Amino acid sequence: MPQATALPHWAALQSHHDTVGKSFVLKEEFKKDPKRFEKFSYTFNNTADNSEILFDFSKNFLTDETLKILVEIAKEAGLEQLRDAMFKGEKINFTEDRAVLHVALRNITSEPIYVDGKDVMPGVNKELKHMEEFSEAIRSGEWKGYTGKPLTTIINIGIGGSDLGPVMVTEALKYYGDRKQTLHFVSNIDGTHMAEALRDSDPETTLFLVASKTFTTAETTTNAHSAKDWFLKKTDGKGDIAKHFVALSTNEAEVKKFGIDPKNMFGFESWVGGRYSVWSAIGLSVAIHIGFKRFHEFLSGAHAMDMHFRNTPLEKNIPVIAGLLSVYYSDMFGAQTHLVSPFDQYLHRFPAYLQQLSMESNGKSVSRDNQMVRYTTGPVLFGEPATNAQHSFYQLLHQGTKLIPTDFILAAESHNPIDNNKHQKMLASNFFAQAEALMVGKGEEQLKAEGTPEALMKHKTFLGNRPTTSILAQKITPGTLGALIVYYEHLTFTEGAVWNINSFDQWGVELGKSLAKKILAELDEPGNPQGHDSSTGGLIAAFKAKAKLA
Ligand code: F6P
Repeated sequence: MPQATALPHWAALQSHHDTVGKSFVLKEEFKKDPKRFEKFSYTFNNTADNSEILFDFSKNFLTDETLKILVEIAKEAGLEQLRDAMFKGEKINFTEDRAVLHVALRNITSEPIYVDGKDVMPGVNKELKHMEEFSEAIRSGEWKGYTGKPLTTIINIGIGGSDLGPVMVTEALKYYGDRKQTLHFVSNIDGTHMAEALRDSDPETTLFLVASKTFTTAETTTNAHSAKDWFLKKTDGKGDIAKHFVALSTNEAEVKKFGIDPKNMFGFESWVGGRYSVWSAIGLSVAIHIGFKRFHEFLSGAHAMDMHFRNTPLEKNIPVIAGLLSVYYSDMFGAQTHLVSPFDQYLHRFPAYLQQLSMESNGKSVSRDNQMVRYTTGPVLFGEPATNAQHSFYQLLHQGTKLIPTDFILAAESHNPIDNNKHQKMLASNFFAQAEALMVGKGEEQLKAEGTPEALMKHKTFLGNRPTTSILAQKITPGTLGALIVYYEHLTFTEGAVWNINSFDQWGVELGKSLAKKILAELDEPGNPQGHDSSTGGLIAAFKAKAKLA
């Protein structure tokens, strides 16, 4: 595949941008075409729970022609072939020689998927069964701790994909969660994270889930060892590791070495990338919290979006359109960021989750054929739930100098319709108002009519014409959440396919890790280390002088 800029329709997109895109005035487009909303909004029918999710792309810089050119670019970039190769289990993560098969984890039909000639589905289903049995045993109290008590405190120890997915999903689906359970997610190597989780935990009733694909991640293994030491110390050595520690991993040898019996290990395969692993055994905390039936609904919603992505023509394919818009904004308009703001408190960790998904996948600058790319790739994804975010950084969206393509997400039905839905109506009114305000802005005429003093005129002007995508779901159910996550997965996939980068490796995290290992050893040596630049060396020396290292 060539560089994106060498695709036959790239020049057409460039000239379309120069002639149409640059001077595009969103609000005028709505005046010209009263059916714009109908034309550019798409309904996703979620077979998981018979609900719908409405994706409104009409407040984007989009015309029939834009879409046509973008779809041509996707075809020329081989998006369909790459997608089909992923679903077929081909090793599209070529820098690690791996298939990319998180889609198999939610393949609820069990249609065979082959890797190296072997159907992976029996293995996937076996692990799901194990997760079902275990999660139900914990929830019912049938699984007991070493003194015979049910385990009601769950501490997941993991980082990156082995943390962000479980945290985000358990928070998002908290409404369905077992309120007798106390959940902690310990990820940071900062001892404070573990100390705070252990502070009020009772070893007799605590279950540790050590979640690590590789089981070699420094933070996780160190945290897990500290947890084990705490457990053994608190139980005077009588605590039974087998009853209180399980591992979620691909690395049986390391799990055994740590002291966890492989029968208490929930496995998955190397073709599950960390940032796509919440659908695997890494999602065990989710199954324990909301129950396996609901975990299965979560997988079903994901599968429904997979099928949409796999089978829908590109011009109607919801994540494909979103991914192509992102390419258009990044490479033609110079947009550097992508904001996701859920109008939903349960989704408060969703942007953090999406950060890893998007930025670890598409933060790349070398093409799949080994060239430095000649264009901008993955945007900086950020976000916070609204309406809180409105009172912090939305100022910059409305009046700053940057173009920030924005997604707003709302569920029509609240799980907590308190005060006769008063809160929900206020929340929804802000969801509509923000997208409208970002588009229409506020000009001189209106300001004058409001009697704005001349000196404040420019300060109170809103230029508008800021693009937004509004996503309106019915309710944040497990099935809806599954579909929403997968929408972003395939959006990211589409971007990566067009940019011709490998969205599935993450070599960029290695350098910092290896330097940290070297410096860690230096911290234990007497004197100050040599060979660093003067800033790094000076900082290490200052730290050594100040820290009370035992
Ligand atoms: O350092 C990045 C990373 O490899 C992520 O891709 C991954 O999700 C995380 O570390 C944790 O890895 P593991 O599950 O192997 O501990």
